[in-house]
Amino acid sequence: MEKYAHDILIVGAGLAGLRAAVAASEVNSKLDIAVISKLHPLRSHSVCAQGGTGAVMREKDSFDLHAFDTIKGADYLADQDAVEFFVKNAPKEIILTEHWGCPWSRTPDGKIDQRPFGGHTFPRACFAADMTGFHEMHTLYGKATSYDNVNFYDEWFVTSILVDNNTAVGLTAIEMKTGKMHAFQTKAIIMATGGYERIYEFTTFSHTTTGDGMAMAYRAGAPLMDMEFVQFHPTGLVPSGVLITEGARGEGGYLLNAKGERFMKNYAAEKMELAPRDVISRAEQTEILEGRGWEGPYGPYIALDLTHLGEEKINERLPLIRDVAIKLGGVDPVKEYIPIRPAAHYSMGGIRTNIKTETSIKGLYAAGECSCVSIHGANRLGTNSTAECLVFGAVAGEEAAKCASLYSFHEVSNQMVLAEEKRVFDGILGSEGNERVSAIRDELRRMMNTKVWIFRIGDQLESALKEIRELKRRFKNIKVEDKGKQFNTGFASALQLDFMLDLGEITIISALARTESRGAHSRRDYPKRDDENWLKHTLAYQTKDGPRLEYIPVTITRWPPAARTY
Ligand code: FUM
Repeated sequence: MEKYAHDILIVGAGLAGLRAAVAASEVNSKLDIAVISKLHPLRSHSVCAQGGTGAVMREKDSFDLHAFDTIKGADYLADQDAVEFFVKNAPKEIILTEHWGCPWSRTPDGKIDQRPFGGHTFPRACFAADMTGFHEMHTLYGKATSYDNVNFYDEWFVTSILVDNNTAVGLTAIEMKTGKMHAFQTKAIIMATGGYERIYEFTTFSHTTTGDGMAMAYRAGAPLMDMEFVQFHPTGLVPSGVLITEGARGEGGYLLNAKGERFMKNYAAEKMELAPRDVISRAEQTEILEGRGWEGPYGPYIALDLTHLGEEKINERLPLIRDVAIKLGGVDPVKEYIPIRPAAHYSMGGIRTNIKTETSIKGLYAAGECSCVSIHGANRLGTNSTAECLVFGAVAGEEAAKCASLYSFHEVSNQMVLAEEKRVFDGILGSEGNERVSAIRDELRRMMNTKVWIFRIGDQLESALKEIRELKRRFKNIKVEDKGKQFNTGFASALQLDFMLDLGEITIISALARTESRGAHSRRDYPKRDDENWLKHTLAYQTKDGPRLEYIPVTITRWPPAARTY
């Protein structure tokens, strides 16, 4: 086994990871930085971001307004000091990416254009047609590769964070090309590995979003925060779940039930189709459950109507959506309704960090969706995710660079690495049981889709917990049929499933414990928000008996909790 050494290791090459690499390199060009990803960077899920990146870019808008929209959208569970920092720094990031070449869509007088998005009281989404993430990623990848001190390990699967004396000292990774495990020694690690929505059957997310980084940090001893809060995006294309951007409603699209009614008038009369996602997803689910969904070969759905926007506007502002609807939905939105329903889209929870992106482990930082700083609280507003990746990716890069400039390398013992080799190669690849990884994975996804979905109820969550514990037991008895070394995707799937099972268990336990409804966590048996008992963050720590929960207060600066109506 070879040992590598880099001053900073960034795990994940999406928006947050690439932004961190650029920031770290700008702080100290002498630092040796490595970006390690199980994918080629341009296959990271960030390229799928569509509708926009939120930032205050006009005089009529304000930081206070963006902060308040975000906090209200979060159902008052966001930490308000982090939100204030975030909104103030987002515009800088838009301008930086513009200078680095991001082709932002423009107004006729040449300004960066902005479109309306759900829960925002001002058109705040800067966009590049409906391929915002794609263009941001190409811009950042170009920028990151221009630094001589940024190295890329593409298609290296990180399996664990090595921690000694509560300090991150390195990590282990399998080079997919050879199947060999290697150890990396470092001074600072940034986790930027994205979300875990593939734990659900119907999701907008790529097959690779399996929460590896969150699970690794949890296993290394860092708490995960607010994992009960999973966002359901109102417009997942039926049947694939592929995202149909909220930008389609920002441009004027309607949601219709099978009676042809714009039913949002009954749920959020003021904001209608531009209410926050938790409100719209519950409304859609209610319409479907009460029999007002459209009937189709893949079950009931809601119609997204863009026909009144006209071909020219659709082609200019929503070209990807038209293409996706035609190719994957079999409908042309210029003439036909798009069949949609809510799909798992985002994790508000993640590795707990402070505003400096520091975790509870020294030298371990986290940014982007895998982290929880927390600016999204119980429900994220659209456009605040890509903005968060840029703002806190930059912070993580700067902070890790400061740390790496101060300290020397820590020792990575052979013992630690051998233990991980044994866990992974003997315990997972070498396991000779009779359970198929794909069967356990599919059961997990179906179960999360039925029992830990938009509306939750105690006995269903109890039953989900039993089921996931049984799946974890069965996982110990898997067999990876392909024992080969090179690009063994069956083996990679098993490693990912192992992570997902931990994350599912944490989600269920945290959801079961929270006996209130807040943001995206909606309990039928506890339908009200309960600030007296539950205005607090959930922390989940790993123990040998499963997750242990603790609670910490929410930081309120200037916006006391109030009723949330739209
Ligand atoms: O609908 C969308 O374009 C998604 C944006 C987001 O999640 O922020």
